[in-house]
Amino acid sequence: MDKIVIKGGVSLNGEVQISGAKNSALPLLFATLLAKGQSELSNVPALRDINTAVKLLRELGAEIDAQADCYQINTDKIKSVEAPYELVKTMRASVLVLGPLLARFGQARVSLPGGCAIGARPINLHLKGLEALGAKIKLEHGYVEATAEKLRGAKISFDLPTVGGTENLLMAAALADGETVLENAAREPEIVQLAEALISMGANIEGAGTAIIQIQGVASLNPLRCRVIPDRIEAGTFMIAAAITAGNILVRGAVREDQEALISKLTEAGAVIQAEVDGLRVIGSKKLAPVDIRTSVFPGFPTDMQAQFMALMTKAEGTSRISETVFENRFMHVCELQRMGADIQIDGHSAIIRGTDHMTGAPVMATDLRASASLILAGLASGNTTEVSRIYHLDRGYEKIEEKLAALGANIWREQE
Ligand code: UD1
Repeated sequence: MDKIVIKGGVSLNGEVQISGAKNSALPLLFATLLAKGQSELSNVPALRDINTAVKLLRELGAEIDAQADCYQINTDKIKSVEAPYELVKTMRASVLVLGPLLARFGQARVSLPGGCAIGARPINLHLKGLEALGAKIKLEHGYVEATAEKLRGAKISFDLPTVGGTENLLMAAALADGETVLENAAREPEIVQLAEALISMGANIEGAGTAIIQIQGVASLNPLRCRVIPDRIEAGTFMIAAAITAGNILVRGAVREDQEALISKLTEAGAVIQAEVDGLRVIGSKKLAPVDIRTSVFPGFPTDMQAQFMALMTKAEGTSRISETVFENRFMHVCELQRMGADIQIDGHSAIIRGTDHMTGAPVMATDLRASASLILAGLASGNTTEVSRIYHLDRGYEKIEEKLAALGANIWREQE
């Protein structure tokens, strides 16, 4: 298994190009199931989660040809409607085939994802929504079995704004009979991109990006042609890399409107952020002020940036509090940061971080995707060598992160353990 080795203490400078967004590419890949014919998706990042999605689509019968970041997906010969446990347990987002399969074929059999490293992450809201559209749902042998002769539009009010739930329902409702209204819908940029992609396929959708989305079902959709938006979480991670190393990085592909919460917190911490034509420049400061954050749904501070921001706060001059409100159990990076010398205490759903300038490199273990990024950031800012193992988590969501950081001046490389 590979590990990442970092010799920290170097300021990062230069430009980095952000890749396509994992969390946009995944629902878009699954949305191709909604129509017959050949879809094309470009700017698809080279990631382990994308490989898992491709494997799942092929298992269903899709024919896929990938040239660099451009994927051709032909869904004429879908022969199965089952997402097996082996794939769903590797990647929870596999549950996003439920809506499209049910809408186009009237049935779907999808393994329940089970527990995951950052909390329970149930899919009850996806299922409740599909039932409201008229689907019959049975849970048997660890699988969700959903059937519907024809989905019918309905009013669905989510108990909480779920990203995956909103995406599954958007895709299902696009082919339902009549009007669906999604209330308390998630508003993330990835939802907006999915809605725009569906509209380009012939769907009738209004309100994506707000809490109320209206969908008038259509009888059929055309294949998809679409370019995946840049990954705002990868962009945010490089923005923090500039701040934590007192560097100066132009993050090409970072979009100001998608980063408002992070920009405001980084500015409070002492970094300077400037909008440029094709991205955001982040200029770090040697002195970092402590900043409190509270994760929440978009446009609030993203839970997917919480671990990385905590790495930054370990270097601040003073005490900060980070509260996690989206996921339970998303503080596994804390013990590893403590092994590097961080002073962090957990108080329920909050972490209290007393900044120190005594962080030292250490062997640490990645526990989930964003935790891995947090350990790399801490390693970049620490005096000596950090070795991050179990980086298969990192490969799920960051394209060539060590190459991109090395191009900015970091002493970082991948080694076989
Ligand atoms: C997506 C993102 C993930 C991000 C998360 C929150 C993808 C592939 N993943 O995950 O990177 O961290 O949004 O921004 O886009 N919940 C329920 N019942 C449900 C569904 C969700 O209780 O049926 C709860 C979850 O346990 C969690 C909260 O709602 O506490 C938010 O989850 P959700 O927005 O659904 O996250 P994902 O779509 O899984």
